[in-house]
Amino acid sequence: MNDWTPTSWQTKPAAQQATYPSEEALNRMVAQLSNLPPLVTSWEVEALKSQLAEAAEGRRFVLQGGDCAENFDDCSSPIITNKLKILLQMSLLLVHGLRKPVTRVGRIAGQFAKPRSADLETRDGVTLPSYRGDLVNGPDFTEADRTPDPVRLMRGYGRAAMTLNFIRALVDCGFADLHHPENWNLEFVKHSPLADDYQRVVDSLGGSLRFMETLAGSRVDALGRVQFFTSHEGLHLHYEQAQTRQVPHRPGWYNLSTHLPWIGLRTADVDGAHVEYFRGISNPIGVKVGAGMSAEWVQALVEILNPGNEPGRLILIHRYGASKIADGLPGLIEAVRATGKRVLWMCDPMHGNTETTSNGYKTRRFENILSELEQSFDIHAELGSHLGGVHFELTGDDVTECVGGARGLGEADLVRAYRTQVDPRLNYEQALEMAMRIVRKMGPGGN
Ligand code: PEP
Ligand code: CO
Repeated sequence: MNDWTPTSWQTKPAAQQATYPSEEALNRMVAQLSNLPPLVTSWEVEALKSQLAEAAEGRRFVLQGGDCAENFDDCSSPIITNKLKILLQMSLLLVHGLRKPVTRVGRIAGQFAKPRSADLETRDGVTLPSYRGDLVNGPDFTEADRTPDPVRLMRGYGRAAMTLNFIRALVDCGFADLHHPENWNLEFVKHSPLADDYQRVVDSLGGSLRFMETLAGSRVDALGRVQFFTSHEGLHLHYEQAQTRQVPHRPGWYNLSTHLPWIGLRTADVDGAHVEYFRGISNPIGVKVGAGMSAEWVQALVEILNPGNEPGRLILIHRYGASKIADGLPGLIEAVRATGKRVLWMCDPMHGNTETTSNGYKTRRFENILSELEQSFDIHAELGSHLGGVHFELTGDDVTECVGGARGLGEADLVRAYRTQVDPRLNYEQALEMAMRIVRKMGPGGN
C-alpha cells in the first residue's frame, strides 16, 4: 500500500466528476474541509466491520436503505425521523422473523452526489450541465443552479453533520429503545392494511423482552439501544478525500465522512480513480456489481479491494434486475468463489428494475423488486452461498414513486406524491411490506 495516498486517485481517470469553473476555489474548499472534525469515528467503523463479518458468515443480516439522493431541503426533523422509524420498524420485523441480529445502515448523512448518464442536458435548445446531486449543483434548469459550486461541499458536510447529530441524539435519548417501539409509529400506519401484522410482531417482541427481563431479574439494557450506521456512494472524490484521516493508535487511513462508503456501478473501473481511492481506506466498503461486468472484472475488484481477505471488509451489492439475475448471479458467485476470498453478498433489487411509465414517470414495480430479491435468496442457497443483506431505496414518507404493493398503487397514482429528484423509492408501507416478505421467504417455515 506504500504507493497509495488520499490523493493518489488524482493520477487516474475519474468518471462522473463535476467540472468546476475554478479549480483553485475547489481546492481551497477541500483544504477547509480537511481541517474540520470527522463525522464518524474509527471505533464505529471497526465495529461495523465486525458486524459485517458476522453477516458474511450468515450469523447476522444487514438492512441498508434510504434515499436515492438526499437533498439539502430534506434535512429536517420529520424527514429524518421518518426515515429512522421505517428502518427501525423493518429491522424489528427482520430480527423477529429471521431470528438473527440485524445491522441497520442508512443511505443517509452524505448521500448527496449522483452519477448521471449524460454530462449535459438540453431543453428547448439550451444546454446546461446535468444535475449531479446537491453536493455539486442545483436541480433547477438555470445556469446559476446547474453550475457546480464548491461551497456546496461545505453545505453538504454541514447537512451531514446536522443529520448525524440528530440521529445520534435520538438514538441516545431512547427513541430507538426496543422497549418503546411505539415511538416509531407513524400516524398513517393505523390505516394501513399491514398495521395488524406489524402490531402482532411488536407485541410478540415486547412479550419476549419482558420474559427475558423476568429471567434476568433486571432490565436488559443492551436491548435498550440499537446501533445505527451511515453509508453513501463515495462518488465525489474531493469530498471523500477531505475526510480521509489517520487516527491515533490504529494503522491506516479512514474515510470518516461515513461508516460505509460504496463504489457505484458506473465508477467501478478497475483502473479508475474510485477503485484507487477505495483500495487505500480501512473502512468496510461496498461495490455495486451487475449485468455487463465480466467474471474477470469482479475478480480483479475483489483482489484489489481486499488483498488481505480481511473479514467484513468487502460487500458485493448485486443489482441485475428481475429478468437478468438468474442469468448473471450464478456465474458471479462462482467467479468470486474462485478467488478464495470471502465477501458479504447483498442484493440491491432497485437499480436493475427501473422503468418509465407511459406518462413519463421513472418507476419500479414492487413485484419486480420482490422477485429479484426472492430469486437472489434462492440462487445463493442453491450454490451454497449466502445472501447476508439487502439494499433499498426507500423513504419513511407517504410518497407515490414505486407502483404495486398491498395498497395496489397504480401508474395513475404516481402523480399524487412523486417527490424524488432521481430514482423512485419504496414508500413507508411498501418498505414495511418488503420486510414482511423477506421474513415470509427466509424466516423459519419460509420457502
Ligand atoms: C444508487 O445506488 O443510487 C446507484 C446509482 O446505483 P448503481 O451504482 O447501482 O447504479
Ligand atoms: Co438510485
